Amino acid sequence: MKYKGIVLAGGSGSRLFPATLGVSKQLLPVYDKPMIYYPLSVLMLAGIREILVLCSPQDRSGFERLLGDGSQWGLQLSYATQSTPAGLAQAFLLGRDFLKTNPCALVLGDNLFYGHGFRSILRQATEHAIGCTIFGYHVHDPRAYGVIEMDEQNQPVSIEEKPIHPASNFAIPGLYFFDDQVVSIAESVRPSARGELEITDVLREYMRRAQLRVECLSRGFAWLDMGTTDSLLDASNFVASIEKRQGQKIACLEEVAYRSGFLNETQLIALAAKFPNSYGDYIKSLVDRRAPSKRP
Ligand code: DAU
Repeated sequence: MKYKGIVLAGGSGSRLFPATLGVSKQLLPVYDKPMIYYPLSVLMLAGIREILVLCSPQDRSGFERLLGDGSQWGLQLSYATQSTPAGLAQAFLLGRDFLKTNPCALVLGDNLFYGHGFRSILRQATEHAIGCTIFGYHVHDPRAYGVIEMDEQNQPVSIEEKPIHPASNFAIPGLYFFDDQVVSIAESVRPSARGELEITDVLREYMRRAQLRVECLSRGFAWLDMGTTDSLLDASNFVASIEKRQGQKIACLEEVAYRSGFLNETQLIALAAKFPNSYGDYIKSLVDRRAPSKRP
């Protein structure tokens, strides 16, 4: 069955106050494009075209103005709001009608992924009919994240949210692939001590059912979150360094849509005309680059 996607772009953004008092965190620029482009591009790379954007009620109009119905990128975007940030697992309760019995990928609106072979890693994650696929990423200090511990056979043995004493250095990035059990599992989750419906409780239930797969992302891979002043700046600098050095953009939605076959050349050129700047020039240049001898 076809995977659907959810981008979770709510939350209060309080760690970024006052920058986020007037605008949603996920609409802030990360170097040359809005933050939400980065997680949205991940779902597109996974081949997912039907996507629900979950945001806070006061920010909905901003997201709609920016992204519209997604048809410009060959997507079908819809919107739902979360009145209070009650936790990541609430995404499945709010997205119940959207998901129906489809499997889904959830990506957090403040996560950035970049690395070789990502598209095939994502496509593999959408090939499983049963269970849940998550990723593990080695970080120096995992205390701010969900943390996964694996045994010698690479099987998950424990999952904890923001542990004071982490059992491993493997953080769980904000990208998860679920089968159709996820809504009923999320319905059974109760608020944690900090009052949130934790995604890690959903993952623990998949682990209990022996249906949790963990793919470790290698050290050559970049996973950044952008939820604090420093990490937001780091992400902008990261994107700027790569883009300037390589002359290729990270998470240019027009490019991802074109390379994924969601758009043809004529549609791409029409989109480029909307941007009278270097972003538009870059989009225009993609048609030429696609010639086999010039393809990167
Ligand atoms: O970034 C990965 C981590 O994300 C995972 O390792 C953790 O297991 C997971 O709980 C989450 O931790 P964070 O502390 O980073 O979650 P945060 O509250 O910052 O929310 C992540 C994103 O989701 C952020 O863009 C805001 C949005 N959000 C958050 C909540 C709690 C919502 O849209 N609604 C919510 O209710």
